Amino acid sequence: MHARITDIAAHDRQQVTIDGWLHNRRSSGKLHFLIVRDGSGFIQAVMSKAAVGDEAFTTADHLGQETSLSVTGTVRADKRARGGYELDVISIDVHGEAHDYPITPKEHGVDYLMDRRHLWIRSERQTAILRVRHEVIDAVRDFFNSRGFILCDTPIFTPAACEGTTTLFPVQYFDDTTAFLTQSGQLYNEANAMALGRVYAFGPTFRAEKSKTRRHLTEFWMVEPEMAYATLDDVIELAQGLITSVVARVLDRRRTELQVLERDTSKLEAITGPFPRITYDEAAALLKEKGLPFEYGTDLGGTDETVLSEHFDRPVCVTHYPAAVKAFYMKPDPVQSDKALCVDVLAPEGYGEIIGGGQRLDDLDLLVQRIKDHGLPQEAFEWYLDLRRYGTVPHGGFGMGIERCVAWICKLEHVRETIPYPRMLYRLYP
Ligand code: 4AD
Ligand code: MG
Repeated sequence: MHARITDIAAHDRQQVTIDGWLHNRRSSGKLHFLIVRDGSGFIQAVMSKAAVGDEAFTTADHLGQETSLSVTGTVRADKRARGGYELDVISIDVHGEAHDYPITPKEHGVDYLMDRRHLWIRSERQTAILRVRHEVIDAVRDFFNSRGFILCDTPIFTPAACEGTTTLFPVQYFDDTTAFLTQSGQLYNEANAMALGRVYAFGPTFRAEKSKTRRHLTEFWMVEPEMAYATLDDVIELAQGLITSVVARVLDRRRTELQVLERDTSKLEAITGPFPRITYDEAAALLKEKGLPFEYGTDLGGTDETVLSEHFDRPVCVTHYPAAVKAFYMKPDPVQSDKALCVDVLAPEGYGEIIGGGQRLDDLDLLVQRIKDHGLPQEAFEWYLDLRRYGTVPHGGFGMGIERCVAWICKLEHVRETIPYPRMLYRLYP
């Protein structure tokens, strides 16, 4: 019977075959200890000369790391073993030998590993991260699907900017047109929300950002909910609900992975609502108090976000930024019109912004003015202005970056490990 390592407990004392790769091998005279991985986990297969015979035993002498093989043996519970079980080998079948696998258990530099990302993702740590990523995405989908949101994806080729013209990737679109890779599906999402009430888009997003920070990719995945008849408060509630539900799901289903990553899970267990809320003004005062050289009126920088998010033990919602530093589509606060009805959610432990969103400008004349002020071509936005011409309503939503969310949940130094093939300023290979 074929079994996957993740299900091994169900096969105690049974004979099973595991199809996988050799992760590591240790030998002591009449015994080989083979650590086998199959993508779902790792198990130690114990091979004794007495059980498999001389020939098979000698073959195993020379197997290199990442040789593909099937091992057949009897599952045996062992408290000391990783995963609680070992396999007593009866036979092995080698499929593809590997010699001089370039990634050995010794330490390699990040560039070396990134150049071999297609192999690096086989490591225990990387597979743990990718499984957490999977869980985050699955939890996100379940969250919205179970709340009546309709998945309504938005285009990747777009004719205009959503988040500002400085970070657009142009693409030759047939002979005489330039298209741009989307920076956010939001504008289309707003149209979709007017059709379906509550929607979400989930796809890759592109930003030609020349920043080399631990938080920036040029291609990342963003989930974007949008709700008709919603205010800033509704948007904050939704963001909080999403984050707590994603964290709870990872804690529930990916304990093993978090353990591999040596994640302090008590920090994640503390992620319950309600999240603290502060205004931009309060954030500015806090930064001053902490002695940061923050200039009032500017956007929060990476260091500012780090410091703010270290100050709270759960995600903090920063609202009411100066409208001048935010995108053209933000609704101004009716009380202080120089502030926007927006929210950035900063993840704790220094991770900074994982969500950005708010209430949208729903007034036609004001929106036309904002498009002008931002130097954007009104023709490109006529369809978007139609949403204000035909039955406009208060509405809002946000975008959550999957990679930043995963980096925080796994407590990684850099977002580059949260996606199988990261795209960055100096990284387009493999
Ligand atoms: O704050 P941003 O730019 O917001 C928007 O794009 C809105 N239009 C979303 C909306 O309201 N529908 O981006 C949203 C999130 C950020 O909070 C961050 O998590 C992630 O996207 N993000 C990035 N992740 C990785 N690399 C980058 N370069 C990112 N830029 C933004
Ligand atoms: Mg933002």
